[in-house]
Amino acid sequence: MGDSQPTVLLVYGSRFGQSKKIALAVGEVLQERGVAVDVQELSRQLQPDPPRHVGFALVTSVRYGHFDPQAARFIDRYRSWLESVPTLLMTVSLTARNPEKRDPTIHLYTRKFLAKTGWTPSHTEVVAGALEYPRYNFFDRKAIQLIMHMTQGPTDPTVSIEYTDWDQVRQAAADYAIAWQ
Ligand SMILES: Cc1cc2nc3c(=O)[nH]c(=O)nc-3n(C[C@H](O)[C@H](O)[C@H](O)COP(=O)(O)O)c2cc1C
Repeated sequence: MGDSQPTVLLVYGSRFGQSKKIALAVGEVLQERGVAVDVQELSRQLQPDPPRHVGFALVTSVRYGHFDPQAARFIDRYRSWLESVPTLLMTVSLTARNPEKRDPTIHLYTRKFLAKTGWTPSHTEVVAGALEYPRYNFFDRKAIQLIMHMTQGPTDPTVSIEYTDWDQVRQAAADYAIAWQ
């Protein structure tokens, strides 16, 4: 299809790589549906390139209750563009490992982020990330063990579990792609 393909700016904010992996899965589904993706990491330099970019999808993880501050900064800076194109926010966290916690109107971090930024994405999806104790430093491991203890999750420091529901990720991407079909 060449130049006639719409291109979405697909951005990930990821510390241990899970959100990047999820963003790439979103990108695959979009490409299967004729939507090209420009995959970029969340950074201070990130900027949209309209009219080439006709959509914005952000996949970002929660760390100690917050998203990467660059996400709010980007939204604030490019608000009028964001309001003019179809957008997708996919938040990645461990609280979302329980399916009943994946309702974006209930998920605390997502709700707080949307309230703070005043952004209303066209699509919002809450997905589960990964728990990878062996990759965390001492402090992070202890903190995550405490969070897991409080929420009845695994506390064994040798555990690595991917909770991401890939069908959910692909379905959300397919729903978003409908904007160009
Ligand atoms: C240091 C650290 C802090 C985290 N804080 C939270 C948290 O407050 N709430 C939560 O639900 N998940 C939390 N998580 C879980 C991450 O959101 C999850 O591991 C996710 O898969 C990380 O994605 P990333 O690899 O793209 O950064 C935390 C993980 C780490 C390593």
